[in-house]
Amino acid sequence: MIIAIDGPAGAGKSTVAKIIAQKLGFFYIDTGAIYRALTLKAIEEGIDIRDTTRLIAMAKDTEIELINDQNGSLKVFLDGRDVTLEIRQPRITKLVSDISKIREIREIMLGLQRKLGSTRDSVLDGRDIGTVVFPEAEKKFYLDAQFQERVYRRYRELRQLSQDVTLESVEDDLRNRDSIDSSREFAPLKKADDAIYIDTTHMSIDEVVSKVTEHIQKAK
Ligand code: CDP
Repeated sequence: MIIAIDGPAGAGKSTVAKIIAQKLGFFYIDTGAIYRALTLKAIEEGIDIRDTTRLIAMAKDTEIELINDQNGSLKVFLDGRDVTLEIRQPRITKLVSDISKIREIREIMLGLQRKLGSTRDSVLDGRDIGTVVFPEAEKKFYLDAQFQERVYRRYRELRQLSQDVTLESVEDDLRNRDSIDSSREFAPLKKADDAIYIDTTHMSIDEVVSKVTEHIQKAK
C-alpha cells in the first residue's frame, strides 16, 4: 500500500508522514531529502546551479539511500555517507528548488522513488507523489496551511536545530520555494484531483494525524 502526502513547506507533511508510517509499520520515504542530498553534492562538487548538463551527469552517478531507524527517524546516505543533518542547512534549502525543477533530474529520481516504494508498504511525502510518482496510490493527502503559519512553524523548527535564522529569512525562503515549486513545468506542486485536502493552519499535529488515520481506515 502506498500513502502519498504532498504539500508546501511547513504544512506538517514530514512530521505527520513519519508518525503515520510508524503507527502502521510502513516505510517512510522523505522525497525532499533526495533532492536535498543531490543539492549538497552539487555544492560540494562546485557545480554551477545553471550548469544543467553537469547536474544531470552528477545525478546519474549518485547513490542515495534512505534508512528508517528503529526509533522512527530517517537517515539519509549520499554515496555511502550519512548526510542526514547537513541536508537541512540553509545553503541547501536555498538552492534545492533550482535543482529539483530540472526535468531530467526529476526523471532520474522518479526511478529511485518508485523502486523504494514498490518493495514495501510506504508513506511518501513530497510535492508530486500523488500526481506523478505514485498516481495510483491508495490514499492521497494534500496538507496545506496559511503562509504565515507555515513560516512560524519552520522558524521554530530551525531554531530548535540551533540554526541562526530570522523570521524574514524563513519567509523569503518559503516564498521563493513555493513559487518555484508550484510554477515549474514538470511535476509542479499541485493537489491531485483525488487527494484529501487538509488545511492544518489551526490544527495540532495530533489532530492532523487523527484525521489522516481516519481516512486511511475508511479505505480498508
Ligand atoms: O521539508 P521542506 O518542506 O522544507 O522541503 P522538502 O520536502 O525537504 O523538499 C525540499 C525541496 O525539494 C522542495 O522545495 C522542492 O523543490 C523539492 N521537492 C520536489 O521537487 N519534489 C518532491 N517530491 C519533494 C521535494
